[in-house]
Amino acid sequence: MMNEEEVIESFSDLGQDYLFDCWTDWDEHKKSILLEELASLDLKLLSSLQKCLPEKEVPPSLSPLPCLSHEDIIKMDKERELGRELISGGKAAFLTVAGGKGSRLKFKGPKGLFPISPIQKHSLLQIFAEKLLAAEIHYRVPLFWYIMTSPANHAEIINYFRKNSFFGLAEERVSFFSQRLNPSLSPSGKLYLNPAGTILKNPDGHGGVIGALIQDGLLTHMVKQGIEELFYFQVDNPLVNIPDPLFLGVHRSMGAEVSSKVIRKISADEKLGSIGLVNGRAGIIEYSDLNEESRYLRDKDGNLSFSQGSIAVHLFNVAFLNRTDFVLPLHQARKKEEVLIPGSNGCILKEVEVIKFEKFIFDIIPLAGKAVFYETLRADEFAPLKNKSGVDSIETCTRGYIEKYALWLEECGVHVLRDEEGRSIYPIEISPLYALNREILKKKLSHTVNRINDQALFI
Ligand code: UTP
Repeated sequence: MMNEEEVIESFSDLGQDYLFDCWTDWDEHKKSILLEELASLDLKLLSSLQKCLPEKEVPPSLSPLPCLSHEDIIKMDKERELGRELISGGKAAFLTVAGGKGSRLKFKGPKGLFPISPIQKHSLLQIFAEKLLAAEIHYRVPLFWYIMTSPANHAEIINYFRKNSFFGLAEERVSFFSQRLNPSLSPSGKLYLNPAGTILKNPDGHGGVIGALIQDGLLTHMVKQGIEELFYFQVDNPLVNIPDPLFLGVHRSMGAEVSSKVIRKISADEKLGSIGLVNGRAGIIEYSDLNEESRYLRDKDGNLSFSQGSIAVHLFNVAFLNRTDFVLPLHQARKKEEVLIPGSNGCILKEVEVIKFEKFIFDIIPLAGKAVFYETLRADEFAPLKNKSGVDSIETCTRGYIEKYALWLEECGVHVLRDEEGRSIYPIEISPLYALNREILKKKLSHTVNRINDQALFI
């Protein structure tokens, strides 16, 4: 570990001496915290971030790529059976990324704790926990769940699980691990100090999950447990279909190293990553990277050429994760942040433009020997919670939740009262512990409920 002079000297040599101009009126304790942080900063990482600053990302060559259609998938009975065997045999584990800041939602606390279910007001994480518990009961198998947090929400998420007795799951099968942070930089490569006087950093993106799993020994843990496939999903989609034997079975029978779920985009402008051939390899192109020409391109039948969007649900083969040397690219995002700047009378707070560096999980797809894109239905599996209001908001997510289960009930022959716009009049919530999937619901209902004519239906 470097001493104080060495830290100051080495960061001055790196052109970062202005950091020390900020601390003229600080006490020794505050100075020592910054010095310690600087002494442990990964200089290789800093230099690699600085190196990619001036790079203008070369636009990739893009061409359309078909996916496995939903119509074909639902007929794959052998694959569904294979998926069931994988689950019952304990070969599948689950991974949730919950490290994001969730800034658009403006919720006090980690996004995973947001109470989203329409009647019971269960949180996103409780909904997933109950789906996994229901799957354990149904398949009579212990399942492992890995949850990526960030340093900012790690303790709160763990405490939440403890306070709620892990929602019935076995504590030893739920692993929490924190994602890493990257320093945020000025456009010229300078470090910034946040208002507390420590280095301004940001979570390293959902793509940071692979590095964190490796560094924390969790991939090794999976191998030891005999886990062969890892089911990835985000914390913000309560409709995610887990454990989904059909998805697992199709992925496995096709020999895929990565499989990703996609849905038909509502319009060319829907902000979903599109699937395609990216520089000749199967991949997902971020919405903002799909140039206008490709975005509106139509095939001879008038359909969008890039018609399928990613819902950020993936399967990763564990041997593939273990085998591959993952160097995922860094993406830059410019954001306004309050930082400390040296002024004539000590330091002042100022809002400046900072560059954040993140990795994206879907950049793993082109590294796979075989990648499969698997079409599913929006109504059944996708209602993301991103914003407080408007698109992908609390309201649309709750509505998506109600409509999913309204459809399930109708498939079971239950009459659901709907308004002129076709929306269920009453809120509906079906606990995963009552029915994990529509087949179970069909068996359980068997004429006990055939009409929702009360204020709401919760079963
Ligand atoms: P988003 O890209 O929607 O970001 O994350 P966010 O942080 O949740 O929300 P905003 O943009 O600040 O409003 C998609 C998923 O990836 C996870 C999030 O927790 C969410 O499940 N994520 C994102 C991470 O785990 N780490 C990150 O660094 C970024």
